[in-house]
Amino acid sequence: MSGLRASDLIGRKRDRGTLTAGELGWFVRGYLDESVSDGQMAALLMAGVLNGFTDDEARALTGILVDSGDRMDLSGLPGPTVDKHSTGGVGDGTTLLVAPLVAAAGAQLVKLSGRGLGHTGGTLDKLESIPGLRTDLQPDELVAIAGEVGCVVAAQSDRLVPADRALYALRDVTGTVGSPALIASSVMSKKLAGGAETIVLDVKTGDGAFMDTLEAAVHLAELCVDIGVGAGRRCTALVTDMDQPLGRGIGNALEVREAVELLSVAPAGRLADLSLDLAASLMALAGGREIDAERKRLAGLWADGAALDRLQRMVAAQGGDPAVCERPSEVLPAAPVRRDVEAAAGGYVAALPARAVGELSGALGAGRARKGDPVDPAVGIELRAEVGDRVAAGQPLAVIHARSAEDAEQVAARLLELFTVADEPAEPRPTVLRRVGGPR
Ligand code: URA
Repeated sequence: MSGLRASDLIGRKRDRGTLTAGELGWFVRGYLDESVSDGQMAALLMAGVLNGFTDDEARALTGILVDSGDRMDLSGLPGPTVDKHSTGGVGDGTTLLVAPLVAAAGAQLVKLSGRGLGHTGGTLDKLESIPGLRTDLQPDELVAIAGEVGCVVAAQSDRLVPADRALYALRDVTGTVGSPALIASSVMSKKLAGGAETIVLDVKTGDGAFMDTLEAAVHLAELCVDIGVGAGRRCTALVTDMDQPLGRGIGNALEVREAVELLSVAPAGRLADLSLDLAASLMALAGGREIDAERKRLAGLWADGAALDRLQRMVAAQGGDPAVCERPSEVLPAAPVRRDVEAAAGGYVAALPARAVGELSGALGAGRARKGDPVDPAVGIELRAEVGDRVAAGQPLAVIHARSAEDAEQVAARLLELFTVADEPAEPRPTVLRRVGGPR
């Protein structure tokens, strides 16, 4: 498109106008070839965050991001090919459970995951706490492992949606992440380029999520599903609670250990429940039975060890030590200092804000403040109580896994303040708050 000027398009967005698909494409391509500057792109993004991008702009932007790079070709797999994505949470180890579950159920999941940023954890960091495990797999390796094992989780290659990579890095440092249209186009471009026929999205809402209100999360979920269905995929979204951490491990090796320990026994607890819901939604949408019947089938595959076996095969195929699925505590790195955090008084745990707990785990070294920072695989927080639990004075609420006694002391004091312990039990809050699209 000739004759366009970046400043005119920025001005239109500033004045609450809309951009066409052609104009957005021109702007993004210009950013990639550096004829549009960081400052101009940041100004457009901020104008859009403040004034809102329309759903049409979100759809157009998704197509532009997908077209900026390669697409995975999963047509050689027998299928069904499935994929999942979470908008980011704390203690959210669902991928480590959903991937082997759907593989055990006969699907193939090729998941391109990200690293943790800010208070949220990232699946790649968690997996890389397993000695030897590689996440830098080439497309032919991904397809081969998915064909043999049924699941593979790796890093996104530089050639897949490069425009999202560039935009996300800029959004991260310019306060322009929290826009439904930008999040939807970022998430869905990666899912569409990832090639799976069936997609489930876990859109988090609450204190530890990008979308802090249920209304905003439902809008984001609807937009993502609309974009997926519009692109010819089967797509559903669960809007789920992120007011408290999902699992009990918050930290890389701690979350792997939790996943292995959970898969070694019958499913129980919020993390297991949500993982079953996500996996059952995928299998039902991919042409299986109704969600409840798929849930039962998956719970059976979990209880009889079939899902743990798939996880072990996936770890081995990616070069990791498969013994992690038999002796996780021996194989995974352990922090030198452990310190209990004990309840000061008895009562019921009424609140535990996810974001602050994620930040504390990050402060121990489990997360990164800036892209590219190293993470410490061994450190983090192991919760021993969650919202609704009755606790006695002196009972451990959590265990801090730290590099030094000083780190452990500081985090223990802060974590104790984060636990609200009340005289009366809190009203239980479901994990799945809403379903958008897909099977019932
Ligand atoms: N996750 C993504 O992949 N992109 C976003 O914009 C936000 C969360």
